Amino acid sequence: MYSEKVMDHFMNPRNVGEIENADGVGQVGNVKCGDIMKMYLKIEDDVIVDVKFKTFGCGSAIATSSIATEMIKGKTIQDALKLTNRAVVEALDGLPAQKVHCSVLAEQAVKSALFDYAQKRNIVLEGLEDFKPDEDHHDHEEEHE
Ligand code: FES
Repeated sequence: MYSEKVMDHFMNPRNVGEIENADGVGQVGNVKCGDIMKMYLKIEDDVIVDVKFKTFGCGSAIATSSIATEMIKGKTIQDALKLTNRAVVEALDGLPAQKVHCSVLAEQAVKSALFDYAQKRNIVLEGLEDFKPDEDHHDHEEEHE
């Protein structure tokens, strides 16, 4: 049911923890399952030089947040903003359909942390103009399933 990659990232999640004085912190939750994901970014010259996460949630949420941190580390802000939940699912060699919403949480956590970074610096990031950090993310779930 779960790919080896999902199991690997669930059993050995990468980049777990917090970053003190992070440049951007994002927290998202899914109202249906109650899972919560928090993402911390260290950004220098528009590049994500470090990223850590904490996920209080299901195994797929842990695996998706873990691989999402690997996918954005070392990337520019603009590249990180292009991370989609589909790309996260593909990188994990797939997720069961009822677990796709967990990958949406990972995409939203990255966006939410970048949104926080932009707000702190008073800048508007292309692609985040309409982002609402406090939105109920279960709406996205329907879109993506
Ligand atoms: S069951 Fe909700 S994030 Fe996985």
